[in-house]
Amino acid sequence: MKFFVDTADLKEIEEAASWGALAGVTTNPSLYAKIGGKLEDFDGHMKKICDIVGPDCPVSAESVAMTRDEMIADGERLAAIAPNIVVKLPTTVEGLAACRALAEKGIRCNMTLCFSVPQALLAARAGARYISPFIGRFDDISQDGLAEVENIVTAIGNYDFTEHAPNGEQVEIIAASVRSANHVTQCALMGADIATVPFGVIKKMIQHPLTDRGLESFMKDWQKVLNA
Ligand code: E4P
Repeated sequence: MKFFVDTADLKEIEEAASWGALAGVTTNPSLYAKIGGKLEDFDGHMKKICDIVGPDCPVSAESVAMTRDEMIADGERLAAIAPNIVVKLPTTVEGLAACRALAEKGIRCNMTLCFSVPQALLAARAGARYISPFIGRFDDISQDGLAEVENIVTAIGNYDFTEHAPNGEQVEIIAASVRSANHVTQCALMGADIATVPFGVIKKMIQHPLTDRGLESFMKDWQKVLNA
């Protein structure tokens, strides 16, 4: 399983990248607004993220267009920022059409706001490189987000979707809208390819009280060795 960090905050990305376990970054309009991002700085900000994580880490930059033609134009502009940019598009009719057109030009798309197996199947057929089903937003409306993501992982895993994919790469499922370390555990158990995780949750993933307690006792005993 790979981990992406779900943030547009450069400091968070730098720190997460320094831990050696980061494989990518996802952003969205809300995350960019959260850091006080301005329209004129958007492309430059995405470039900074790409430079921090390096060319092997995909960075999802989201189009805010509503029509396929505008999404295609957005996608071409975003893809020109850096080779590791992935164009994030909504899982709508317009998004599907734009995904197919961009995939044919070799541009990778991450289909976001995906909430069902039928949506995911269509996105995969349209040549998506990534599909992002959301967990937390399902939980927010008292439904089981993990169960839906598990269905999507199983359904997509049943077929080969490389026909329209850029460079013939198999689509990967990014478990998104992750709200807890337990979400990550459950996504790994169901076989999601990737989890995109907010920085605060990544920090919690490494924490365990028994690790802290064990380390404290090893340090205490080592002091006895030093004093012997
Ligand atoms: C990632 O691609 C999504 O934009 C993100 O995970 C959404 O998370 P949220 O539901 O916590 O806003």
